[in-house]
Amino acid sequence: MTLENKLGLTNFAELAREEEKLSKKKALALFENGILDQLEAGTFPALKEIHKYLFDEIYDFAGEIRSVNIAKGNFRFVPFMYLSAALESIEKMPQTTFDEIVEKYVEMNVAHPFREGNGRSTRIWLDHMFKKELQKVVDWTQINKEDYLLAMERSPIKDIEIKHLLKSALIEDTNNREVYKKGINHSYYYEGYATFKTKEL
Ligand SMILES: Nc1ncnc2c1ncn2[C@@H]1O[C@H](COP(=O)(O)OP(=O)(O)O)[C@@H](O)[C@H]1O
Ligand SMILES: [Mg+2]
Repeated sequence: MTLENKLGLTNFAELAREEEKLSKKKALALFENGILDQLEAGTFPALKEIHKYLFDEIYDFAGEIRSVNIAKGNFRFVPFMYLSAALESIEKMPQTTFDEIVEKYVEMNVAHPFREGNGRSTRIWLDHMFKKELQKVVDWTQINKEDYLLAMERSPIKDIEIKHLLKSALIEDTNNREVYKKGINHSYYYEGYATFKTKEL
């Protein structure tokens, strides 16, 4: 089962490959053309804009809040009935310290506002908050894939692991295109085909 897409692809692996290629290109463009700089850090409109930009050529739902319930593994993300209310309260969460920013990120992951592509768009949103608020960014190449996924699976219950991982990978070189590009390439590989395993309930 493949998600309906604008590319007309019905083959699972082919959609995964094209989606990755296109959205990576868009992720880099987001940095290069200065769009990121104009977004207001930590807001839902910023995340929406990022998601729309990454996936507009691929999915009709780019930038649109989902209207289905979804889960990964045993974890059910916020039911779509409560999503708008959840997003409103997440937006109000403080973001002045490292801990507050990660806590906000964890809550946004629990919300998982989009049908697909939450990981990729929300990591950019997180990095954007670090950059604007703390003048730091994440060097994703320093974060191991399995460690990251385990920490995210654990994060709704305990955020100590994701905090530790992110803290150890923060750097001060905030405007380096190579760091950003390598980070995108590295962190995309976090899920690979597994990204399609989000269950619709
Ligand atoms: N079991 C889980 N519980 C909570 N969050 C998870 C779990 N598994 C993965 N995640 C988070 O969800 C993200 C994947 O969401 P998804 O919507 O598929 O985004 P993408 O398609 O961009 O990878 C991961 O990057 C991770 O941050
Ligand atoms: Mg996915």
